[in-house]
Amino acid sequence: MDHFIVEGGNRLEGSVTISGAKNSVLKLMAASILGRGMTHLSNVPRIADVFIMADVLRELGATVEFKDDVLEIDTSSELRTVASYELVRRMRASFNVLGPLLGRYGHARVALPGGCNIGMRPVDLHERSLASLGVAFSFDHGYLEGVAPELTGSRIVLDFPSRGATENLLTASVMARGTTVIENAAREPDIIDLAEFLNRMGARVHGAGTSTIEVEGVEELNSASYVVPSDPIEAGTFALAVLATRGDGELVGARPGDLEVFLNKITQTGALWTETDRGIRVSISTRPRSVDFVTLPHPGFPTDLLAQMISYLATADGTSIATENIFESRYMYVAELNRMGADISIEGHHAVIRGIPKLQGTQVRATDLRAGAALLIAALSADGPSEIHDIHHIDRGYEDLDDKLRQLGARVSRISETSPAFLP
Ligand code: UD1
Repeated sequence: MDHFIVEGGNRLEGSVTISGAKNSVLKLMAASILGRGMTHLSNVPRIADVFIMADVLRELGATVEFKDDVLEIDTSSELRTVASYELVRRMRASFNVLGPLLGRYGHARVALPGGCNIGMRPVDLHERSLASLGVAFSFDHGYLEGVAPELTGSRIVLDFPSRGATENLLTASVMARGTTVIENAAREPDIIDLAEFLNRMGARVHGAGTSTIEVEGVEELNSASYVVPSDPIEAGTFALAVLATRGDGELVGARPGDLEVFLNKITQTGALWTETDRGIRVSISTRPRSVDFVTLPHPGFPTDLLAQMISYLATADGTSIATENIFESRYMYVAELNRMGADISIEGHHAVIRGIPKLQGTQVRATDLRAGAALLIAALSADGPSEIHDIHHIDRGYEDLDDKLRQLGARVSRISETSPAFLP
């Protein structure tokens, strides 16, 4: 098992290029099923979740090949319509093939993803809303099976702007008969990417990025090409790594429009940010001020930056309160942060973060993807060396994270079982 060794205390400076967005590319890969032919996705990050989605598509019968940063997906042949538990359990976004399989074949049998380290994550909204399009669902032996001889457009009001449910509805409805209207739709940037990609395939999707999305069903879709934009969560993670070390860094490719509330919040802590020709530059020269924040669906503060923001605020001047509104248990890693000397208590959905002057390096364990990134941020700003274990969680969603941090001047090494251990 690989782990990171980090020698804390170096101010991060310079520029780093943000990779393609994980949460966009996974949905585009799943949506490629809808067209017959060759899809080209560029700026695709080489991360574990992309490799898993490639395996899911291969299991369905597609050919998937990486050529530099371009992913080629050939869906010309007839595909199977079963996504196995072996793959879905490795990554819940595999569940995103449900909508495209229903859209192309009127049949899908997909393993239920179950809960994960951050919450229960049921799929009831997916099921109920797809049923409105005419899908009959049954459940057996851990699999959800959907059958729809013909999908028919409908007006669906989501109880909550779930990204996954919005995506499965979009992909299932693009070839339905008539018009589908999704109210209270998710508005994240990856929904816009998915809609634009579907439109390039020949779909008629309007209003993505707003709460009401309208889909006019079409007869068939072709394959298409798409350049995956930069990952907003990676950009936010690097911004917080720079700020936690009181540094000054440019995030090349980052788009301020994806991160408005996040940028407002870091400004309230005393950080500066500016839009540059190439992206976003962030800096701070003093200890940050404390700030309260709440996570909300886009355009609110992203839940996927909650943990990293808490690591940054762990050394703020004053007490901050974070409120998590999306998932039930996103605070598991706080115990690890407290082992680094942080003073954080959890009250239900709230974290009370009493800022201390400096964290202390130690051995910690990542409990999930964003928690891992948060511990890395903490270690970079801490006094002395740290070891971060269970970094397979981090590899799921960050491309070359240690390499990119070194570009900014961080002292971080990846220790694999085959490489000799050394302190940076
Ligand atoms: C996506 C992101 C994930 C992010 C999350 C919230 C991907 C691959 N993952 O996950 O990184 O943290 O959005 O922004 O894009 N819910 C239900 N029933 C449902 C569906 C969802 O109760 O049928 C609940 C979930 O348990 C959760 C909330 O709604 O509490 C948000 O879920 P959703 O927006 O669907 O998140 P994902 O698409 O799974």
